[in-house]
Amino acid sequence: MPFAFDHLGIAVKTLAAAKSIYEKLGLAISDEETVPAEKVRLVMVPVGDTRLELLEPTSNDSVIAKFIEKRGEGLHHICLRVPDLAAAVEKLKADNVRLVSDEIKIGAGGHRYIFIHPSSTGGVLLELVEAEKA
Ligand code: CO
Repeated sequence: MPFAFDHLGIAVKTLAAAKSIYEKLGLAISDEETVPAEKVRLVMVPVGDTRLELLEPTSNDSVIAKFIEKRGEGLHHICLRVPDLAAAVEKLKADNVRLVSDEIKIGAGGHRYIFIHPSSTGGVLLELVEAEKA
């Protein structure tokens, strides 16, 4: 299974406002989903083989709220799908790459993910998710 581009994460103040441009374009939008651990509510907007992830903070101390406070709404992270996340993380740690968390986290729908710190990626917060086993 090759690497693939999974989604772009966009920090927004409100999903309702952010969704409207995609609704006007006629794109389908997923139902809203809350991820309590990350203090966000999100929708996915499928575009071709990839997706836009719109992220609204559910609390003022959410990472997304802090991002918006500092930089305003906008592109927050990009996400690649990897064949074997544990192996990738092990290799990154061995190479002293700075990760946002020490361990792989389990997100909505049981998917496994980790973030690589922008200081190790040329300034882009990079999320890795594990590809679904076929
Ligand atoms: Co994401």
